Amino acid sequence: MKFFVDTADTAEIRELAEAGLLDGVTTNPSLIMKAGRPITDVIAEICDVVSGPVSAEVAATDYDTMLKEGRKLAEIADNVAIKVPLTLDGLKACRTFANEGRMVNVTLCFSANQALLAAKAGAAFISPFIGRLDDINLDGMELIEEIRIIYDNYPNFETEILAASVRTPNHVKQAAMIGADVVTVPPQVLRSLIKHPLTDKGLEAFLADWKKAGQSIL
Ligand code: E4P
Repeated sequence: MKFFVDTADTAEIRELAEAGLLDGVTTNPSLIMKAGRPITDVIAEICDVVSGPVSAEVAATDYDTMLKEGRKLAEIADNVAIKVPLTLDGLKACRTFANEGRMVNVTLCFSANQALLAAKAGAAFISPFIGRLDDINLDGMELIEEIRIIYDNYPNFETEILAASVRTPNHVKQAAMIGADVVTVPPQVLRSLIKHPLTDKGLEAFLADWKKAGQSIL
C-alpha cells in the first residue's frame, strides 16, 4: 500500500519524506488556506521534496475554468495530480485531462457508483472519504470494500483507490486489510502509527540494562 500524507505543511512533509515514509501528498483548499501561502508556491515546494504524485485541487466548479486551473497547476511539476470534485463538470474535466495524459484525483467520493464513474472517466485516483461518512453514522470502510469489489470485477479500470479523510490508525489498518491501493494520512495520524506503549517500555528496560552492562559499541 502506498502512503500519502494529507497536508500542505511543507516542514512536516520534508521530515516525513526524509524518513522514507512518503509515496505522495494530497492537499485540498482547506489545507492550502491553513498554509496561508499561494497555492502555486506551496505545490512547487512540495513537488521539490516528494517525487510521487502531489494532488492540487481546482477551485472552479465549471468545466472550462476547471480546465484552465488544472492546466496551470499541472504546469508546476510533472508529478502534480489535478484534483477535481466528483460532479458532472469534474468528471468531464477528468476525462479531458486523462486524454491529455495528465494524472487526475477525483475527490469527495461518497458512493460506490461515484467511484465507478470516476474510473470510467479515466481517473488515476478515486478519493473515498472514510471519516466524513463515519461522522454521519455511516460506515466509511464499507465504501472502500464496495469499491475494491467493483474495481476488481473490471481489470481494465486503472484507477487506484486512495482512502481519504482518515482519522485514526484503525482506518489505516482496515484500509490496508481491504486492499486500498493508497491511504492519505494526516501527519499526526502517521506519527501515531509508529507508537506502541510496549515499544517504549521495552526500550526503556533495554537502555537501563545497557547502562548496567557498562559497555559501549563505539
Ligand atoms: C483528501 O484528499 C482530503 O484532503 C482529506 O483526506 C479530507 O479529510 P478530512 O475529512 O479530514 O478533511
